[in-house]
Amino acid sequence: MWVEDPGFPLIRPTIEQEGVTLHPVPVDGEGMDVDWALKHAANARFALLTPAHQSPTGVALSLPRRRQLLDWAAHHQAWVIEDDYDSEFRYHGKPLPPLKSLDAPQRVIYIGTFSKALFPALRTAWLVVPMPLVAAFRRQAQRVACPVPLLWQQTLADFLREGHFWRHLKKMRLHYAQRRRWLETALVAHGFQVVEQLGASSWWYRSTGMIE
Ligand SMILES: Cc1ncc(COP(=O)(O)O)c(C=O)c1O
Repeated sequence: MWVEDPGFPLIRPTIEQEGVTLHPVPVDGEGMDVDWALKHAANARFALLTPAHQSPTGVALSLPRRRQLLDWAAHHQAWVIEDDYDSEFRYHGKPLPPLKSLDAPQRVIYIGTFSKALFPALRTAWLVVPMPLVAAFRRQAQRVACPVPLLWQQTLADFLREGHFWRHLKKMRLHYAQRRRWLETALVAHGFQVVEQLGASSWWYRSTGMIE
């Protein structure tokens, strides 16, 4: 499985535990370096990545890389696992549509979570899987005890159905953008400066000496 390097640290042990061999693939200003992966491990069966906001650098996977990845998956009968863990919040530029929305060959397994958009203790996420995989995922889900109480799930379903979730996102986008501006102002006021803009929404600050 291709995984991003650097990447989300908790995911690697979980996958390795299943006996899967990991191929860490470098990340640059356009996200996962698909050329590199094709050169070093073209026969992988899976690619796991965070296309909207690469974790941890924040870069978005460029459109040419998205196409390259989907072509590879289609030609090698491989699966792309799209971990879309926080795409609801983006403060610069237009949000990019998920990779899943380009998935004509039906090779993308999409994962979303309510951890960032609502709260992590809800422990609720969802999958959008290609049609041919639906039955297998259903069977597997029936074998695993779901830790989320049914009442919470039904409440959440009502929350979505009645449009409250979208209103909540609209409100929180404004709040978080404001908080972000406050944080930036405070950092600059305390001697930090932007040294590198890696992705559309990721800045790295370096102290000019006052706080370090
Ligand atoms: C990159 C990435 N993927 C997945 C997750 C998992 O989210 P959760 O298990 O809370 O749904 C997180 C949580 O922070 C994350 O940062």
